[in-house]
Amino acid sequence: MSIRIMGTGSALPVKKVANEELARLVDTSDEWIRERTGIGSRYISTGETVASLAARACSLALEDAGKRAGEVELILVATCSPEDTAPCTACQVQKEIGAGNAVAFDLNAACAGFLFALHTAWAYVESGIYRNVLVAGSEVLSKLVDWEDRGTCILFGDGAGAVYAEKCEEGGIRSFVQHSDGSRGAVLSGVCRPLANPYIARSQEGNYLKMDGREIFSFAVRQIPKTIEEALGKSGTDVGEVDFFLLHQANRRIIEGISRRLEADGERFPMNLMEVGNTSSASIPLLLDELNRRGRLQRGMKLVFAGFGAGLTCGACVLEW
Ligand code: COA
Repeated sequence: MSIRIMGTGSALPVKKVANEELARLVDTSDEWIRERTGIGSRYISTGETVASLAARACSLALEDAGKRAGEVELILVATCSPEDTAPCTACQVQKEIGAGNAVAFDLNAACAGFLFALHTAWAYVESGIYRNVLVAGSEVLSKLVDWEDRGTCILFGDGAGAVYAEKCEEGGIRSFVQHSDGSRGAVLSGVCRPLANPYIARSQEGNYLKMDGREIFSFAVRQIPKTIEEALGKSGTDVGEVDFFLLHQANRRIIEGISRRLEADGERFPMNLMEVGNTSSASIPLLLDELNRRGRLQRGMKLVFAGFGAGLTCGACVLEW
């Protein structure tokens, strides 16, 4: 038994910001950003929330699967940028889409969040607790980045992606691998709210995202090929059998480095980071939805999802579409 993705959806804010526009905010250029990252633009919220984007993506995933919201049994939202500490984003989505019969909660594994949520969904279905699930990755990272830091504000974009998946007897997800390394947490970090109460001196430190870009780069290029090979090995799949590798859309050079290490040709690594930037936990389901809606996926195809992010965390899964 496993779970199979039956529908996909995604949502982006209305405002698209090109590199040239960022060059008016910080000392950078379109040429530098494209050359170092491959990113040409990103979408930035001017009012859309993590919950509203997730709800839109989930509704579209249900529509694509031909399912009604009332049939959904579990909603998982992966996010590291929720509007509220309570209620959780998944409960807000449940209300928004009218999925009153679903259990709903959030999960945070930063940019690997969607993969960790999908694995959680798989475990729930495999154990027989639920039969179907909506899994979303949704972020409005634009409220966490320092818009004066050219090293980070050029990378991230806002958006959401979602899948509707259900129990299946054949095909579906074949294997999963996850890793976490809390000892390297400082490589990419952000503070929610610093400690503040009448008994301590207030911290003056800003609470923006802080990142060691080079460390993350080398972590991704070294660790992700190994993680993918581990997931492929567990499912008895050869690199050559994979139709598409859907990797976390952080940086074109990272993706090219991973494809070289795997000795897999670049055409099997679709990208949309040129248009949407790094949307953290939303990036894999956003890309998946794009491929699905363009008719590039056929049932029976073998796909690999792989991602990495703050934590440090990383994961990969092998599935039959
Ligand atoms: N525009 C112009 N110059 C910039 C710049 C920008 N947006 N950002 C940094 N620079 C400058 C630096 O200040 C530095 O200048 P210096 O040599 O005078 O000190 C120079 O460019 C090189 O900086 P460096 O950080 O070494 O560049 P890099 O080649 O490592 O590229 C990243 C920086 C962030 C693009 C790259 O490290 C990266 O993509 N890392 C992965 C980050 C990531 O994916 N994070 C999310 C993980 S989920």
